[in-house]
Amino acid sequence: MQELYRIAAGRAGISMEEMNVRSPVGEKKTQRSLLQRQVRWHCQSLKNLGLLERVEDERGVWQLTEAGKHKLRKARSGVSVLAFDTKLGLAIWGDAHRVFSAWDEPIFLCLTSPPYPLRRHRKYGGPAELDYTDFITKHIEPIVKNLVPGGNVVLSVSPNIFEENSPSRSLYLDRLTIALCDRLGLRLMDKLVWASNQAPGPIQWASKLRMQLNTGYEYLIWFCNEPRRCIADNRRVLEPHTEKHKAFMAAGGVRKPRVNSDGAHRQVLGAYSNPTAGRIMRNVIYEANTCASQRAYKKRARELGLEAHGAPMPLSLARKLIRFMTEAEQLVVDPFGGSMTTGLAAEREDRRWVSTELVYDYVRGSAERFMAEDGIDIHLPLAN
Ligand SMILES: C[S@@+](CC[C@H](N)C(=O)[O-])C[C@H]1O[C@@H](n2cnc3c(N)ncnc32)[C@H](O)[C@@H]1O
Repeated sequence: MQELYRIAAGRAGISMEEMNVRSPVGEKKTQRSLLQRQVRWHCQSLKNLGLLERVEDERGVWQLTEAGKHKLRKARSGVSVLAFDTKLGLAIWGDAHRVFSAWDEPIFLCLTSPPYPLRRHRKYGGPAELDYTDFITKHIEPIVKNLVPGGNVVLSVSPNIFEENSPSRSLYLDRLTIALCDRLGLRLMDKLVWASNQAPGPIQWASKLRMQLNTGYEYLIWFCNEPRRCIADNRRVLEPHTEKHKAFMAAGGVRKPRVNSDGAHRQVLGAYSNPTAGRIMRNVIYEANTCASQRAYKKRARELGLEAHGAPMPLSLARKLIRFMTEAEQLVVDPFGGSMTTGLAAEREDRRWVSTELVYDYVRGSAERFMAEDGIDIHLPLAN
């Protein structure tokens, strides 16, 4: 306890004399240090909450429990810490709303995967489904305020939320989409489909009761504040033409004029014969669910004794979207940073970036992904 009193005094910026000052306590007026009593009291509360446990075979030595580590590692409300920075970006351990409410630099793109809605509220979990729209709107609003005209917001979200005990899907994304347009003045550009090899599910409704199909996609809901000035440019993400298409262009394109769909589509002689730089990307994007960058991150996080983020976005998907929606050096933000995939993608694409994340393990583990980047400087120590 003496060691603990000394540390508590140091942290509180008071001397040991002040810590030891005694005053009369209780009916018997026994002389006791009230500050020491407070320290013991907090210590006892942490034990009762299951956050501290006795170290085996060591008398009077206590440590954080596994549960305690994770619970206590969320950034305290009101506190934001610069976790690490690179030549192009900043990763902040702290609450997105707080950080971006104080932001006043033009933002070109917000690319983020918000936490999934939970059916019921949990103290340390994400937002409950009922509060979801308000939660996301609150966090996106300060970003939208700083969005340049024609700037974009992309939310990577799951359609796999079902109504209670039912194979029917929740309308939470529809509600959210409408709220972001109505409340924040955003316009819906598209619901891009990210198709992937995700694990089979919903198990209950597809594998067991066979009423549903296995889901193979997620949405990237894309909004713009001024659509006619939208800064996205598909020429930055052209795909290579197939050999077949190259041969078709070289042979003079369409050779038999055609009218399809009752006149809706007309193909004139020679159409598609002008060589173009590449194929325009479709709004259905295939990207495998896991990637080498994620696997390396998870392995490294575990080596450091940190919890690895369970749902990182594939790096190549984030890079593609950032290239499509911004130019070099423009600022990209991610309020729900997780393992900082958006930040890393922006860094690799030469864009500036700012990401926030509440959980210490995720933000500290993600720093390891930036070790080879220019100017990396880590400010968050490895806590144990
Ligand atoms: C779905 S994950 C993001 C995954 C990320 N795209 C990646 O590739 O790793 C959502 C993250 O938002 C974080 N989060 C939730 N509320 C937050 C808040 N108010 N401020 C900052 N981060 C928050 C969660 O801790 C979680 O790591």
